Amino acid sequence: MTDRLNGIHALITGAASGIGAACARRMAGDGAQLLLADVNGDGAKRLADELGQASIQADVTRAADIRRMLDAAYDRWGRLDVLFNNAGIAEIRPLLELSEDDWDRMLGVNLRSVFFVLQAAARRMREQTPIAGSELRGKLIQTASIAAYRGGLANMPHYAASKAGVVSVTRTAAQVLAPYRITSNCICPGAVDTPMWKKIDAEWSKLEGWQAGEAWKRRTSLIPLGRPETAEDVAGLVNFLASRDSDYMTGQALNVDGGLVMGN
Ligand SMILES: NC(=O)c1ccc[n+]([C@@H]2O[C@H](COP(=O)([O-])OP(=O)(O)OC[C@H]3O[C@@H](n4cnc5c(N)ncnc54)[C@H](O)[C@@H]3O)[C@@H](O)[C@H]2O)c1
Repeated sequence: MTDRLNGIHALITGAASGIGAACARRMAGDGAQLLLADVNGDGAKRLADELGQASIQADVTRAADIRRMLDAAYDRWGRLDVLFNNAGIAEIRPLLELSEDDWDRMLGVNLRSVFFVLQAAARRMREQTPIAGSELRGKLIQTASIAAYRGGLANMPHYAASKAGVVSVTRTAAQVLAPYRITSNCICPGAVDTPMWKKIDAEWSKLEGWQAGEAWKRRTSLIPLGRPETAEDVAGLVNFLASRDSDYMTGQALNVDGGLVMGN
């Protein structure tokens, strides 16, 4: 526990599980005030109660929920310093079998929502005074993936495309919002041990006719640093991006993957 994030007010989407939850724990431990948002409202509330923070049930694919989420932050704090734009879904769909509905559902959550949550936050942030102790008005942090760069996940073409889109949106936002002193960066985790990867493993292993756990085993065996990634490994980077130590960084896509993107 440090006071690194004292005075920082942050909204985390997809906060009920996995990476979002680990980042919430880490950021709360370092003094941030948090609003935990998730389509799973009960899960977000449970974690918020445990951490002494606030929560809201919100489906980021719905414009009304995005508005409600931002209103909740501004009603509570009068400002928002950090957006951790993290909610996402994954599913296995071989390229030759993927349907239009599969594509729309995936891109709807992982790219369309990420864009409109970012836009809603940036519209409010540009009107506010700088963050205490910083020259910046706000910080936007998106969760992309190393899937944005190269295959390895050949059976998730729509997921990979959505994450490449997140990198693109992150960079455009960095350029457009720099004059307002709002930064925009994204993180690219590798193979992280979360409920999302349990689902990927179940679907991928079934597709290949492997035993459950085999897809995860094969994928993580390729990690140069020699062990699977934990959500806490990701939380360290997000914490840094939320802190004043990263104020001079914008437009970056940062890999936190144990070297997997070079190793596979
Ligand atoms: N697990 C990995 O290996 C990995 C790797 C790279 C990137 N990521 C990305 O990290 C992010 C978090 O993934 P995770 O592994 O923690 O997954 P997870 O499934 O454990 O958590 C995702 C959370 O997002 C929430 N969510 C999903 N759709 C939502 C919606 N429409 N509105 C609001 N909340 C919604 C879920 O309820 C869940 O709590 C995702 O964007 C994912 O693509 C994960």
